[in-house]
Amino acid sequence: MAKVTIMEHPLIRHKIGIIRETQTGTRDFREMISEIAMLECYEATRDLKLEDVEIDTPITRTTVKRLAGKKLAIIPILRAGLGMVPGMETLIPSAKVGHIGMYRDPETLAPVEYYCKLPADIEERDVFVVDPMLATGGSAIDAINQLKKHGCKNIRFLCIIAAPEGLENLQKAHPDVDIIVGSLDEKLNEHGYIVPGLGDAGDRIFGTK
Ligand code: PRP
Ligand code: URA
Repeated sequence: MAKVTIMEHPLIRHKIGIIRETQTGTRDFREMISEIAMLECYEATRDLKLEDVEIDTPITRTTVKRLAGKKLAIIPILRAGLGMVPGMETLIPSAKVGHIGMYRDPETLAPVEYYCKLPADIEERDVFVVDPMLATGGSAIDAINQLKKHGCKNIRFLCIIAAPEGLENLQKAHPDVDIIVGSLDEKLNEHGYIVPGLGDAGDRIFGTK
């Protein structure tokens, strides 16, 4: 079964407290989403492979560690996943970025895919799928289905707020995918929104409401 990490770090809990507040404006909301993504990225990259490299310091020759050149990709689920990309890129700047566009049908809550553009060598890359919200899990499950169809084998999913229902559905559908969660909330409401949640993440990141 996939490993699920619920981030307990005080900085993440503090920043999630800020984005939950209705009064938090677009600029601060965006900044917090990016910073939380960066902190989660630190956790998600914990097992990246290192190799030994010989270098000269000003004092002597020595052996240091370098990332072993593993190819990485960040895949935001549009739109809201875009908000997590700057924070991810801060820590893994050479990662390629692919995009999967999904929206939830407001009636059925089923995800509808409208866009997919991935790096040409995506099947060779370790993939970090990012979306701030894991509600029913439908969008994340479909996005990961799409990546597996393209040959991806090593996939991690990072979200900021998850509902228990979505987490369970994602684990069942993709037991090989490790999941990093900023906060595991109480439940979904009758409209498919996470409670207490933060409302519509896409609208709050882009100021469309
Ligand atoms: C939101 C969110 C996820 C999805 C989660 O996207 O960013 O992609 O809902 O819900 P699920 O787990 O039930 O699938 P939304 O459909 O609002 O699109 P947007 O990001 O373009 O606003
Ligand atoms: N998508 C959001 O943006 N917020 C929710 O609470 C659920 C899905």
